[in-house]
Formats: sequence, structure tokens, C-alpha cells
Amino acid sequence: MMGKEQRVIAILGAGGTLGAAISRQLAGESLAGLVLSDISAASLEATIDGMPDNGASIETAVADVSDFQQVEAVVERALERFGHLDVLVSNAGVLSPNGRIHNLTVEDWERAFRVNIMGPVNAIRAAVPAMRQQKSGSIILTASVAGLTAWSHASPYCVTKAAVIHLAKVAAVEYARDGIRVNCVCPGTFMSAMHADLPPAAIDAIAAKHPLGLGSPADLVGAYSYLASDASRWTTGSAIVVDGGYAAP
Ligand SMILES: NC(=O)c1ccc[n+]([C@@H]2O[C@H](COP(=O)([O-])OP(=O)(O)OC[C@H]3O[C@@H](n4cnc5c(N)ncnc54)[C@H](O)[C@@H]3O)[C@@H](O)[C@H]2O)c1
Repeated sequence: MMGKEQRVIAILGAGGTLGAAISRQLAGESLAGLVLSDISAASLEATIDGMPDNGASIETAVADVSDFQQVEAVVERALERFGHLDVLVSNAGVLSPNGRIHNLTVEDWERAFRVNIMGPVNAIRAAVPAMRQQKSGSIILTASVAGLTAWSHASPYCVTKAAVIHLAKVAAVEYARDGIRVNCVCPGTFMSAMHADLPPAAIDAIAAKHPLGLGSPADLVGAYSYLASDASRWTTGSAIVVDGGYAAP
């Protein structure tokens, strides 16, 4: 991989709670360029606000991760502006509606598959051609502890996040010889828009399942920083669990 100060990083799903934190963390490290993308232009603006000014050039692009051409356009933006792409973070994700399997609709499943699975698949498809030419690259997928443990009433979310973990393994094996590493991060729970409809009692119950209590985006960004750096050069196909002990029992 390039030296830290020459790195070019693109982040899909850079709006929202975790996306903003990852963007600010990586922008605060020395970089050559950063491309921030999200389906929501307003959330991208919020991410840019308060970004550290370290001289890294920042581009923004509105893109829906479920549409390959839009993801490809984000990668092209990085290549046209900065000449290469060293790290791609695929962080967009959606929670499924609360319900047991027999109460959920085909649309509930399709939405989870489109965003949570096809988003990371499209990210890999879009980044691999340039990274293969460079013979280097790091692709980081946001999965979840929901992909490691079974949650009742959230089957599309759990199943798609489990698939993201396996996608990282398969892609790691396929692209290791091309110098491309593929890993995922499995966060435990931190408060975000995903929890907006939950009553306080439900949040307390979720918190109680985390031995170290609920997390915050600040607890997670170090894993992304590691995977985006050369310190992780021998790490591929991994699911890095950062969950306050949630999955330990
Ligand atoms: N909050 C948690 O407790 C938690 C735990 C584990 C994993 N995660 C994962 O972390 C990631 C970020 O979640 P968050 O909690 O910050 O939620 P969030 O809702 O704040 O952020 C999600 C972002 O994804 C974007 N997005 C949604 N659909 C998109 C699409 N089709 N194309 C492009 N962008 C799209 C949204 O606009 C939003 O900015 C998700 O993948 C989520 O599954 C969250």
C-alpha cells in the first residue's frame, strides 16, 4: 500500500453516525484524497461539517450503493481526481423492520439484500479493477455482531450481515494474489438513526447485553484506521469484532 500521506480513500455510506466518524477519523490522518459518498446529500453535508482541515482534498458524490453504476462512478471520481484508490470502505446499511420471519414481506428481504449485500458486492466489483492494476488495495466492509449472533425479529438484517462476513472471506481468498485485502468490522450497538424508534426500555435491554455497555462511534474508528493502514498488511478475510463483549458469551 501507499505511504499514509499518499493514500486515497473512498467511503460509501459516509453520512450517518458511523460513516461520519470514520470519515473524520481518516481525514484526520494524513492522506492525499478522500471521496465521501452517501445516498443522502444532506447527511454528506453533515459529515463534511466539522471535518478536520489537514490539506486532504475531499470530494463528495451522492450514490445509491445498490446501483453498481453509481458505485462505479464514485470509484471513477477517485481515479480521475487522484489517480488511484487505495482504500474503499463500504459502510452503508439498513436495519430491517421489527418482525418475525412469517410477518416480514418479500420487500423487507429485498431491501436488506439490495443495500446490505449488493452494496458491498458492488463496492468490491467497482474497486477491484483499479486495485488489481495497482496490485494493492484494502476493502473494508461494515458488517455487525448481528451477523455473528441470532437476533429475534431482525432476520433480514442478521442474515445479510452474516453474508457480508462471508463475502469478505471469499473476496479475500479471490484477490490475495492481486495484492488486495478484504476485511470486515463487526460493531456492537452504538446509538444512531437506526434506533430512533426504540423506546428507552428497549435501549436499556440492548445495553445490558453488552458487558462494556453501549459503544460510540469513537470506539469503532480505530478498527477502520487499522484496516486502512499498512499495519494490517497481513490481515485479510478477517471479521474484526468491536462490540463491548456482546458476542463473547
Ligand atoms: N448502529 C449500530 O448499532 C450498528 C451496529 C452494527 C453495525 N452497524 C452498521 O453500521 C453501518 C452504519 O450504520 P449507522 O448506525 O451509522 O446508521 P445510520 O443510519 O446513521 O447510517 C447509515 C448510512 O447509510 C446510508 N445509506 C442507506 N442506504 C443507502 C444506500 N442505498 N446507498 C448509499 N447509502 C445508503 C444512509 O443514508 C446513512 O447515511 C451500517 O452498515 C450498519 O448496519 C450499526
